[in-house]
This record gives sequence, structure tokens and C-alpha cells, in this order.
Amino acid sequence: MSAILLDFSMPIITKRLTIRPMQPGDGKQLFAQVEKSRDNLSQWLPWVNHVRCEDDCEITARTFYAEYILRKAFHLVVCLDDKIIGGVGISQINWTIRRMNVGYWCSLNYQGKGYVTEALNALVDFAFKHLGAQKLYILCDSENTKSINLAERTGFKIELEALGVLDHPGNGALRLGRQYGIYA
Ligand SMILES: CC(C)(COP(=O)(O)OP(=O)(O)OC[C@H]1O[C@@H](n2cnc3c(N)ncnc32)[C@H](O)[C@@H]1OP(=O)(O)O)[C@@H](O)C(=O)NCCC(=O)NCCS
Repeated sequence: MSAILLDFSMPIITKRLTIRPMQPGDGKQLFAQVEKSRDNLSQWLPWVNHVRCEDDCEITARTFYAEYILRKAFHLVVCLDDKIIGGVGISQINWTIRRMNVGYWCSLNYQGKGYVTEALNALVDFAFKHLGAQKLYILCDSENTKSINLAERTGFKIELEALGVLDHPGNGALRLGRQYGIYA
């Protein structure tokens, strides 16, 4: 079946959070959160340096919404009481073998409270149940302790560690990175 025909219900509701597709109109809130956490996020996420104004975020939100409709990627925002506090997403999808890359970020003000653990557990469940994922994987810098802790806390297992397994923001030097995986 073509991925575009996949049906499922949205949003994903967890104990404390609402997780929904990024959509037109989200640019303003997204930019505010990125601005507050820019130094923290830009250490690990290349896209943060390319987001310099509300319009950049609005363009991203609209592009991601289009990709969501096409089932090319699932960039979801994590909301607490209607406020966007972070994001979780599925991209780099290989529909033939149903292997998918998972990513996440959280506004600095909301880190350390277990919100991303809650959102990631829900995303993994969604991917296995509704997208038919066989394998989900995370790529993260070997020095990104918070991301490593999160991956391990949500049941992902380390599969490899090597130089240059991911893009790292900055000078283009090869960084040591890890791949974590989880299977249906
Ligand atoms: C990676 C990132 C999302 C992790 O955020 P986080 O806040 O540590 O993750 P959680 O929301 O799951 O919170 C976990 C922390 O809250 C604590 N916590 C409190 N209540 C909790 C609960 N109910 N459940 C789980 N953890 C809880 C945990 O002990 C943990 O703290 P610790 O790391 O000091 O042990 C965040 O650091 C981030 O956005 N980093 C920048 C972007 C990035 O690196 N993205 C990943 C690229 S690979």
C-alpha cells in the first residue's frame, strides 16, 4: 500500500502532553522557543543555525505539514497546555524495509521533567502500531549525554559508535557519534 493512504488518528495524547503535527501558524511559537534555547539546541542540532526569524520557522512549519500529509516525514510538536515546548519526529523513512529515523528536542525551560521521555515513548508506540515500523533509530553525538540518557531510558540499544555518523553543527570536523536502535 502507498504510504500516503495510511490513516491514523491525531493528535497523540499522553498523561501530560498533546503531540500533534507541526502546522501552518506554528512559526511564531516555534521561533520563540528556539530563541530561548538557541545556545543549548544549536550545540547538537544543525537546523537551529538556519532558523533566524519567525518567517524561517513558518516556512519550516508549512513544509513539514506538507510532508506530513504526503507521509514523507512526521514532524510533531509536543504541547503542554496548548503551548509548544518541543518536538519529536520521524524522518529518513525507508518504506520498503520500514526503517525510520527518530529525532527530538525540548525547550530548555522544560527539560529535566521527563516530557521528552513521555513523548518519545508515545512516538515509538505510534510508529510500531500505525506506521508499521520494523526498526527505529537515533543518531546522536557521543558527547550528547542527555540524548544518550533519553535513548537508553526509552529502550533503544546502542548499535554502533563511529566517527562521522551524523552531521554536527559547526566546523565540519568529523565527530564521534552513536546509532541507537529499537525493533518492533
Ligand atoms: C535531548 C533532550 C531532548 C533531553 O531532554 P531531557 O529534558 O533531558 O529529557 P526528558 O524530558 O525525558 O527529561 C529527563 C530528565 O528529567 C528527569 N525526570 C523528571 N521527571 C521525570 C519523569 N517523570 N520521567 C522521566 N524522567 C524524569 C530525568 O531524571 C532526567 O533528568 P537527568 O537527565 O538529569 O537524569 C534535550 O536535552 C534537548 O533538547 N537537547 C538539545 C537537542 C538535542 O540534543 N536533540 C537530540 C539530538 S540527537
